[in-house]
Amino acid sequence: MDQVLETGRPQLKYVQVRDYVRSVCVGAAPGTPAPSERELVNRFGVARMTVRQAIDTLVAEGTLERVRGRGTFVSRPRRRVGDLTSFTEEMRRRGLEPDSETLLAEHEAATGGVARALGLTAGDPVIHWRRLRLGSGAPVAIEDAYLNELLLPGFLLGGLPTSLYDALAARGLRPTLAEDSVAADVADATEAALLDVRVGAPVLRVSRRGLAAERPVVVARSVYRADRFTLWLHLGESD
Ligand code: GLP
Repeated sequence: MDQVLETGRPQLKYVQVRDYVRSVCVGAAPGTPAPSERELVNRFGVARMTVRQAIDTLVAEGTLERVRGRGTFVSRPRRRVGDLTSFTEEMRRRGLEPDSETLLAEHEAATGGVARALGLTAGDPVIHWRRLRLGSGAPVAIEDAYLNELLLPGFLLGGLPTSLYDALAARGLRPTLAEDSVAADVADATEAALLDVRVGAPVLRVSRRGLAAERPVVVARSVYRADRFTLWLHLGESD
């Protein structure tokens, strides 16, 4: 029987296999062989197809790579110029397991800055999703995402996703273009309590406007613990 999570939703078998393989591969040295198909078939009592589906997902997300004629291995870190990564991907790249706690998820009326950034008029409906973002259980950031509700009807129904970008991708709305602004600052009392730092501890404030097909979909304001997050930028010549 499929494992039932605390959410009450049955977990798909390939997700169980994928999460297991990811847990043994995250943090392993690049080039380490992934568990074999046969081992996974035996361990989970699932069909080979299910195992392949799990491995395919991990190859697609860049955790594993296939080497023709040799097998499947933990990937070397790759980052292309222009990568537009999610928090989930950023954590995995650092060998940390991403997680989130939803602090707030509600419908709101867009106000000034958010409305402008999303190309809306003040008062238009937005979804406000506030999360504490964790890396291997430790607080890394607080993120306030504002989504254009007109593009995402029913987003808050049926359970919130783990990764916002994955959920947007499933709707063909994953940002392909973004503008980030980054500023150094200090944590206020609310942020300090959530991030488990002292009031006045250094933080990075990152604001991102994400566009899909040139339409603004999301504006997210994140506050990162400066001691737990270094921003990596890979830059190239512009056209
Ligand atoms: C990064 C971006 C945020 C974005 C988030 C989505 O942290 N700076 O603007 O909202 O990724 O991450 P995920 O897909 O893990 O929810």
